[in-house]
Amino acid sequence: MKLFVDTGDVEEVRKAAEWGVLDGVTTNPTLIAKSGKGFKETVLKICELVPNGAISAEVIATDYETMLKEALEVSGWHPQVVVKVPLIEPGVRLVRTLSERGIRTNVTLVFSVSQALLAAKAGATYISNFVGRVDDLSDDGMVAVADSVAMVENYGFESEILVASVRHPLHVVQAVNAGAHVATMPFKIMEMMFKHPLTDIGLTRFLDDWKKAGLSIG
Ligand code: G3P
Repeated sequence: MKLFVDTGDVEEVRKAAEWGVLDGVTTNPTLIAKSGKGFKETVLKICELVPNGAISAEVIATDYETMLKEALEVSGWHPQVVVKVPLIEPGVRLVRTLSERGIRTNVTLVFSVSQALLAAKAGATYISNFVGRVDDLSDDGMVAVADSVAMVENYGFESEILVASVRHPLHVVQAVNAGAHVATMPFKIMEMMFKHPLTDIGLTRFLDDWKKAGLSIG
């Protein structure tokens, strides 16, 4: 499963990229606004920090013609840019157009299998299925993820199911169990994935024993 970090903060991207396990970055208008930096400059910096990674940059318009103009603009910034498009009628039409032109897309704000089916049929590269926002409503967001993974696999669609709106490491584990292709998460969740108290206790014991024995390497 690919791991993406969901942020507009280039310092977070830099730290996550250093770990050598980062496959891409997703941004959205909220995250870019929060970064306090310009959209293009942030996206280009992220592309530089994650060579070969898929970097999602979202269009803002909601009418087809302006969405297409914005999509061509952001996709022209860098070959790594993936155009993020909301799951609305002009968005699905846009994904079809972009896919015919060989431009990669990430369809966002997907909450149901029927929405995912439309995105897959339009030729979406990634389908961002949100889980946390559904869990917030006392429902199980991961159900649509598992069903959408089965849907793309049963019918041979090339789209990858991307688990978004991840709130804790258990969502990442559930994404793995559902066979999702990608999970994107805030930097702090990626940091939390390293954590296990037995790792800390075990390492302390190893180092204490080594020190007591007066050993050294080399
Ligand atoms: O970028 C899309 C998604 O990951 C946003 O998550 O936490 O705002 O529901 P959240």
